[in-house]
Amino acid sequence: MKEKLQKIRENAIAEIENSEGLDRLNEVRTAILGKKGELTAVLKGMKDVAPEDRPKVGQWVNETREAIEKRLAEKLEKLEAEALRMRYESEKLDVTMPAVKNERGNLHPITQVRNQLIDIFGSMGFEVYEGTEIETDYYNFTALNTPQDHPARDMQDTFYLSPEFLLRTQTSAGQIHVMEAKKPPIKIISPGKVFRSDDDATHSPMFTQMEGLVVDKGITLCDLKGMLDEFVKKIFGKDTTTRLRPSYFPFTEPSVEVDVSCFQCGGKGCKLCKGTGWIEVLGAGVVNNKVLEGCNIDTEEYSGFAFGIGVERIAMLKYGINNIKLLFESDLRVLKQIDD
Ligand code: PHE
Repeated sequence: MKEKLQKIRENAIAEIENSEGLDRLNEVRTAILGKKGELTAVLKGMKDVAPEDRPKVGQWVNETREAIEKRLAEKLEKLEAEALRMRYESEKLDVTMPAVKNERGNLHPITQVRNQLIDIFGSMGFEVYEGTEIETDYYNFTALNTPQDHPARDMQDTFYLSPEFLLRTQTSAGQIHVMEAKKPPIKIISPGKVFRSDDDATHSPMFTQMEGLVVDKGITLCDLKGMLDEFVKKIFGKDTTTRLRPSYFPFTEPSVEVDVSCFQCGGKGCKLCKGTGWIEVLGAGVVNNKVLEGCNIDTEEYSGFAFGIGVERIAMLKYGINNIKLLFESDLRVLKQIDD
């Protein structure tokens, strides 16, 4: 019996020493000390040992077990230390290496201007309404006093999805949704993408507008002018003023084109303002009674003004960009320069 145990012990120690990883060591442990292990089998066989020999044999078994466990523990410690050393080795950092430059991103110029506009109008008490890019012909045109065959439809070359649905050509479509959903007083801005079949240095088939709509008791063109004067000072600088020129939009009456005094030359005339001292920035007007009536708003009691700002146009003017395509090409050399 003693020899048998001696043999188990020697074998076990050899196996332990040869184990190359933690998994293998565990297998060896089970093969010897586990439920079906070699040493466990010897213990189970104790019942066949003569009673007077049992204490002696029992002691041998225990000694063998202890010796094996000790070796197992030592080997385990060694393997763990080795694993840790290898991990440290693989994660080793050379702190003298030059650092990879971490570049800071910035918002797209359109998003920057959009946020600036929202801040300015937000501070004047305007709420933001987000419309949808797909609209019906009714909201984009008919309800805005532009029925089928109205010549003003030619002002905006439209992408139709079906006879009924289209990609909105103007955020003005949102005006109708707001007036249908809410009683005056109304004071909203509505930023978003619009689409027109139009493509040159200053026009893109997709661009961004920001609509504004105010409906309340006693609103006049003077309110519009006063608000716009505030607005241009905030976006282009405190010396900027506005002038209104007559224009035409079916959904406003009267309609105006709004110019700002050239913030580059102060009105003397330069390349930016083409020598005129003024730069056109947006379209606006007093909401046409037909539009209010279509939304069941009593025109005896209420009136309103609306305006539509081209966000790309503001960005191009502010940052001196001469081709609208530069705003859509995602060229980092351009985008990096504009961080307002
Ligand atoms: N929707 C007009 C356009 O896209 C702009 C506008 C908006 C004009 C609101 C007047 C009032 O050209």
